[in-house]
Amino acid sequence: MPIIKTDNLIKKFGDFTAVNGLSLEVNQGEIFGLLGPNGAGKSTTLMMLTTLLKPTSGTARVNNFDIVADPDGVRKSIGIVFQDPSSDDTLTGYENLKLHGMLYNMPAELRERRIKEVLELVDLTNRKDDLVKNYSGGMRRRLELGRGLMHHPKIIFLDEPTLGLDPQSRENIWDYIEKLSKEERVSVIITTHYMDEADKLCDRLAIIDKGKIVALDSPTNLKKVVGGDVINLKIKNPDIESIKKLDFVKNINSKDGTLSLSVNNANENISELLAVTGRVESVELHSPTLNDVFLHYTGREIREESAEGGWSERIINYRSKK
Ligand SMILES: Nc1ncnc2c1ncn2[C@@H]1O[C@H](COP(=O)(O)OP(=O)(O)OP(=O)(O)O)[C@@H](O)[C@H]1O
Ligand SMILES: [Mg+2]
Repeated sequence: MPIIKTDNLIKKFGDFTAVNGLSLEVNQGEIFGLLGPNGAGKSTTLMMLTTLLKPTSGTARVNNFDIVADPDGVRKSIGIVFQDPSSDDTLTGYENLKLHGMLYNMPAELRERRIKEVLELVDLTNRKDDLVKNYSGGMRRRLELGRGLMHHPKIIFLDEPTLGLDPQSRENIWDYIEKLSKEERVSVIITTHYMDEADKLCDRLAIIDKGKIVALDSPTNLKKVVGGDVINLKIKNPDIESIKKLDFVKNINSKDGTLSLSVNNANENISELLAVTGRVESVELHSPTLNDVFLHYTGREIREESAEGGWSERIINYRSKK
């Protein structure tokens, strides 16, 4: 039986549909990801699954409790780490954990034992008596991970767990997430707009865009859909029609003078490709990433909104039927 099952979950804010018919299942013990750009509906989905928002329509069961009919059952089953910092920075790490245990009515002896365990798990034992305001961003995130685990939840929800952290702290948090998944045997639902994070951590993931699932599978299988290799060409005035005629070119996206091609056997075929394109400013070749998967399905890239604001639409999204 899946630990989470959603059926056509919809959330509207006025006329705006933030989550548009989400149906998915999460298996027990899995690290399951919701990957999508800003505004895709990831946090809204999490808010519904954690009973903080009521769905406009549709249903979901979390640990077999209905999110609308039995919110208390859901709440006892889950831990949450919010997108924005939610620990009290005027308290120490220890005091934050103690407060959480008290809110969950944990008996004192059990609570103190559990505080020791989670502090060990997230390596904060020797900083437990420091005020949270003196923690680094990564330490604060670790404390919140630990706090989410205090009451032995079956499922932990992590909303953008490494948002705003430097690369080293992000990798450090990934290690803790993998550790808690193994050692606590907890199912993990994680939202992120970082492709590398989803790729590294998730057993399976749903790519969401504009409130809908565009693809759902393991990172490996998702990348297989793009297939072959990706060649990026920086080129002025490309002759798209001639490139389309090459039978090893499966897909073409173009933007701002860069062509992104999905091709079979890039190494073998690149010279034939360059013979057609003529002079290029630069060539880059790589195996598919989740960014290429997102591009394949939506014609856009997942990345932070540009300084000018808004998502850059691809001017060409050509997919051959070969
Ligand atoms: N309370 C609200 N009232 C109106 N619109 C809302 C509300 N909450 C969210 N939205 C809108 O719903 C959409 C989805 O928001 P949500 O926070 O779920 O996105 P997200 O995928 O978590 O994005 P991010 O990566 O920026 O965290 C956005 O367009 C947002 O502006
Ligand atoms: Mg969000």
